[in-house]
Amino acid sequence: MHHLKVIAASLMVIGLAACGSQSETDTHSQLGKVIKNDKFTYANYDKVQMTHLDLDLDVNFDRKVLDGTARIEFEKLDPSAEELVLDAKDLSIESVKFLSAGNWADAEYSLSDDDDLMGQALVVKIPAGSQQILIDYETSPEAEGLQWLSPAQTAGKRHPYLFSQAQAINARTMAPVQDTPAVRITYEATLRTPPELLALMSADQDPYTPRDGEYSFEMPQPIPAYLLAIAVGDIEFKAINDHIGVYAEKYILDASAEEFSETPMMEDANAALYGPYRWGRYDLIVLPPSFPFGGMENPRLSFLTPTLVAGDKSLTNVVAHELAHSWSGNLVTNSSWRDSWLNEGFTSYVENRVMEALYGEGRANMEQALDMESLKAGIASAKSAELTHLKMPENLAHPDDAFTQVAYIKGANFLFFLEDRYGRDQFDPFLKQYFDTYAFKSVTTEDFLDYLQKHLGAKYPDKVSQKEIDAWVYGPGLPDTARQVKSSAFDNVSQLQAKWLSGEIKAKDIPTGNWSTHEWLHFLKTLPDNLSKPKMAELDKAFRLTGTKNAETAFAWYMQAIKTDYRAVMPQLRKFLMEVGRGKFIYRLYAALKDNGKETWAKNVYSQARNGYHPIAQRRIDAILEK
Ligand code: BES
Ligand code: ZN
Repeated sequence: MHHLKVIAASLMVIGLAACGSQSETDTHSQLGKVIKNDKFTYANYDKVQMTHLDLDLDVNFDRKVLDGTARIEFEKLDPSAEELVLDAKDLSIESVKFLSAGNWADAEYSLSDDDDLMGQALVVKIPAGSQQILIDYETSPEAEGLQWLSPAQTAGKRHPYLFSQAQAINARTMAPVQDTPAVRITYEATLRTPPELLALMSADQDPYTPRDGEYSFEMPQPIPAYLLAIAVGDIEFKAINDHIGVYAEKYILDASAEEFSETPMMEDANAALYGPYRWGRYDLIVLPPSFPFGGMENPRLSFLTPTLVAGDKSLTNVVAHELAHSWSGNLVTNSSWRDSWLNEGFTSYVENRVMEALYGEGRANMEQALDMESLKAGIASAKSAELTHLKMPENLAHPDDAFTQVAYIKGANFLFFLEDRYGRDQFDPFLKQYFDTYAFKSVTTEDFLDYLQKHLGAKYPDKVSQKEIDAWVYGPGLPDTARQVKSSAFDNVSQLQAKWLSGEIKAKDIPTGNWSTHEWLHFLKTLPDNLSKPKMAELDKAFRLTGTKNAETAFAWYMQAIKTDYRAVMPQLRKFLMEVGRGKFIYRLYAALKDNGKETWAKNVYSQARNGYHPIAQRRIDAILEK
C-alpha cells in the first residue's frame, strides 16, 4: 500500500520533470524527491510524512482545553530517517509512545525553543520498523486556533461554545501535526463534550446523531492539516436537501436555511463546470459573530459568519466561494503559503463563474467590478512591490500576509485573462482536467504553469506569451492585459452619484428603489473622501444608512463616515464593533479610526470589545492599535 503510493508520487513527478521543468528553486517535487518548500513548518516532510491522524479528545469547557491523545501514522520517504518532526504550539506534551510489535513503548522526544510565530518542533525518535506514535497532550486556553466562548457570549446564553480556525498555521495549536499544506492526512476523531452539546468536525458526520456527549468522525479523503476543524455548542441542524444542510444556534437556524437555500444550485453549477463534488455531504455552519472570517472552507462543513444572513441572499457569493474550495484548495492545494493564489485566486474565479451561471452576467460583473475597485486600493497600499506578485516572496513574514487582494483578485483576474485568450470552450475543460489531474495533491505555482504550458500553451502557442504570464505571476501590480470590467448597472449608479454630488438632484430623488446591495456598495465605496458633513447627513436622512442591517453596507457607510468625520454614526459604529468580529470589517475600521484622529475612541471601544474577539482578531488589532 505504502509502496504503491510512493511509486504513484514518483510517476507524477517524472511526468512533471519531462514536460520541461522550471528554473525556480522551490519546486515541490523533482525526480521522486520531495523538496521542502514551506518555511512555516518545522516538519521534515521531505523525509518522513504523517499519513493519518486519530484524535481522542475531551472538550473541557471549564479549563478551556482539548485533552487527550493523538495517534499518528507515518511513512518514511527517506529510509534512513530516524526522526519524525511535528509542529506544536502552546501544547503540553505529557508523553510520546511508539508502536512496535503490537505494543506501545516510551519514545524519545524533544521540544525546541518556543518561537512566537512557529511554535515548537516536536522531534520524535522513530525506531526502525515503527509506523505509529501516540502522543498524550493538551491544548492551551490561549491556543490561537481555538475560541472558547462563555454562555454569555452566545446568542442562546445558556451553553458555552468552541470553534476552531486552523488556517493558515494554527492546526499546531490544536494537535501535534505536520502543519504544512504540502502534507495530506486522513483522519478520525472521537470527541467527548458535555452531553447537551453537539460536536462537529470537517469530516463525515450524521446530522441526526443523538446528542449524548460522545461524537465520532471520519475523514477518509487526505487533507492538509489546515483543514482540520471543530465546532461544539448548542447547535441545531436543518436540511436543505438530502446531502446539504445548515447547522446554527436556534436563533438563526431558519433564517440561515432560507438565506442559503440556493446552495444545491451552486453545487450543481460548480460540478457542471469542474466535475462532481467529491466529498460526500456538504453542510454549512453559521458560527457566532466573533468568527473572524466571512467563511472558511473546512471540508464537508464550511464555516460561515452570521453577517452573511442578510435576509435577501445578497451575500451568498461567500458560500459559492467556500463551496468552490472543494475543487480549488481542498482537492488541489497550494503546497506552501507563497502559492496562496492557487487556492484563493482560483476559488475567487470559480466563485464568480458559479455566480454568473446562477444569477447572470449582470451580478457577476458587479461582483468583479467591486473586487477590481478593492484590488486597485490593495495594490496602492501594498507594503512592497513583491507583495503584489502572485508568487509571494521568499521572505514573506507571516503566512497571513499572503492572503491579500492580490492572491484573491489579481489571481482570479489572471484566470479571467487566460479564459478570454483561450476561450471558455478550451479553458473550462482545461481547468476541469487540472483539478482531476492533481486531485488530492499539493502543487506549486510552477506546477500549474507547467501544466498550462503543456496543455494550452503547446496547443495554441500564439494566444499567450511567456512574457504576459510572467507579468501576472512574477511581476508587480495589475498587468495591462487585465480584463476590462464593465457593469452597466454601476455606470448608471455613478451617473446618479455625479448628479447628486454636483447638486443637480437631491439625495431623496436618487431612484434607489431597485438597487441591489451591490449597487449600494458601489455608490458608497466611490464617494469622495472629503464629502461634506451636510452631504453625509443628507444621505443618511434619505436612506437611513446608519444602523443598516446589511453588514457590508454598514461597513462601507462607516468607513465613509470615519473619513469624512461624520460623527452621527459613532453610537451605531460602536455597536457594530462590539457585535461583529469579522476581520475584513473590523481591521479596516480600527485602522481608519486610528488614521483619522479617533485613536482614543477606537482604543476605548476595543478595550471593551477585545475579550469577545477571536484570538486571531485580537492579535491583528493589537498590532493595528499598537497595544
Ligand atoms: N480560506 C479563506 C479564509 C482564510 C484565509 C482563513 C487565510 C485563514 C487564512 C476563505 O476561503 C476566504 O477566502 N474567505 C473570505 C470570503 C471570500 C468570498 C473572499 C472571507 O472570509 O472574507
Ligand atoms: Zn477562500
